[in-house]
Amino acid sequence: MLTYVTTNPGKVREAESYLSSGSIDRLEYDYTEIQSDDLGPIAAHGAREAYRHAGDPVLVDDAGLFIDGIDGFPGPYSSYVEDTLGVDGVWDVAADLPDRSAAFRCVLAYCDGEEFAATPDPIDRDDRVAAAATAGPDDAADETSAQADATDDRSALPVKLFEGYVPGTIVAPRGDGGFGYDPIFEHDGTTFAEMDTERKNAVSHRGRALAKFAEWFAQR
Ligand code: IMP
Repeated sequence: MLTYVTTNPGKVREAESYLSSGSIDRLEYDYTEIQSDDLGPIAAHGAREAYRHAGDPVLVDDAGLFIDGIDGFPGPYSSYVEDTLGVDGVWDVAADLPDRSAAFRCVLAYCDGEEFAATPDPIDRDDRVAAAATAGPDDAADETSAQADATDDRSALPVKLFEGYVPGTIVAPRGDGGFGYDPIFEHDGTTFAEMDTERKNAVSHRGRALAKFAEWFAQR
């Protein structure tokens, strides 16, 4: 059984619809969201923490809205911005932009405590392992401690990452389905909040990441 780790019921609805209900357990576990300008390390860190907590194979989903005209903001800060500025506030900011193109990105991070064979999808082996491999002579002391960390199973848990991306445009809020920024994100003339779950999954960042994951997981 696969455990989908999130406090967001909207994400679970989409994952269940894609992977077929009954094939995943939901774990409402609030893992630490580290600060990074990239979704991958945030999801990978969350997956390690969730795996240590659950002891079962876990899938962590980290997503964000990236608006081109404001340098990809809110991106990895999407959750904080939704809680503070709100979805209508983001629309107010975007409304005056000459270019309202944007994208949703999703990174799914899978961890079951085991190694992975090399494939085109990235494998996050923990920053300390990479730091140990690239350290110069001046970093000898750091290198020693980094290698010690790297050989510690708890810090070197490999995590497999699956990424999905969908381009779109920021528009005035429309529709009452979906969740989060769905009402202001239009793809091919329809906002995500105007689509049902199946239709959103067919084109969305999460649907694309789930498709890659499902194909790989079926072979594992
Ligand atoms: P997180 O992945 O839970 O950190 O989500 C980041 C932010 O993006 C939250 O404010 C979510 O509501 C929002 N978000 C994540 N995925 C989607 C989506 O598929 N549609 C709309 N908003 C989303």
